[in-house]
Amino acid sequence: MNLVLLGPPGAGKGTQAKRLATRLDIPHVSTGDILRQAVKDGTELGKKAGPLMASGKLVPDDLVVGIVKDRLLQPDAAKGFILDGFPRTIPQAEMLDEGLARHDKALDAVISLEVPIETLVERISGRRSCPRDGSVYHVVQNPPRRAGVCDLCGTGLVQREDDKEESVRTRMQAYAASTAPLKDFYARRGLLRVVDGVGAPEAIEAAVLQAMKPREVTPGA
Ligand code: AP5
Repeated sequence: MNLVLLGPPGAGKGTQAKRLATRLDIPHVSTGDILRQAVKDGTELGKKAGPLMASGKLVPDDLVVGIVKDRLLQPDAAKGFILDGFPRTIPQAEMLDEGLARHDKALDAVISLEVPIETLVERISGRRSCPRDGSVYHVVQNPPRRAGVCDLCGTGLVQREDDKEESVRTRMQAYAASTAPLKDFYARRGLLRVVDGVGAPEAIEAAVLQAMKPREVTPGA
């Protein structure tokens, strides 16, 4: 299963991608996570991407496409993958199609998680992450067992730099201008599945799995 999760900042792409990756036993490929690791490691990519990410702007297409191509060539992605946060622009989507076609592959479905803006703001402002293992929590909806501390490794949780108000505004604008048009792009290809992203994470996961099932074709339609 080759899957893309689309949605604005805070829609729950990362949360659902992690659940689906475990259930389907295929890798979760998050360009946001890969770029954040590059920033932390101080690589050339990280030095270029860091300031753009902190301000909420998109990283240039050529940088992001390169890292996704490399990641999808890893052996664990041969049986499928879940892309989270990529593609984010029409050129990225076109380059993904071309890259997959070169290996006789194609996307199976693109899930768009739909969440109202007030809920997105609530989710983003309450999100806390573990800087060590990347676990994601929410201070109200999904709190750690001990406040401010990662359940898995005991590291102190932090707020993402780009989750500050000004950067969130820029990220929302970037989504509306550059990423939302991908819904039409994939609808025209018959790949788009719209899923309500409000509710308990397990209910949303069930809705995503349902949406991924091949559609029945009505005879004569
Ligand atoms: P990225 O890391 O991809 O950020 P994003 O798209 O803004 O998405 P988020 O991580 O904010 O949200 P999410 O949808 O994953 O929600 P989550 O599951 O965490 O990208 C960051 C930056 O990197 C970009 O701004 C850009 O600079 C750069 N970048 C990345 N990819 C790029 C690309 N392809 N091209 C160019 N630049 C790129 O959930 C949010 C919160 O809500 C959490 O606290 C969670 O616990 C909670 N939550 C989740 N689901 C539920 C639920 N059902 N009910 C209640 N709470 C919930």
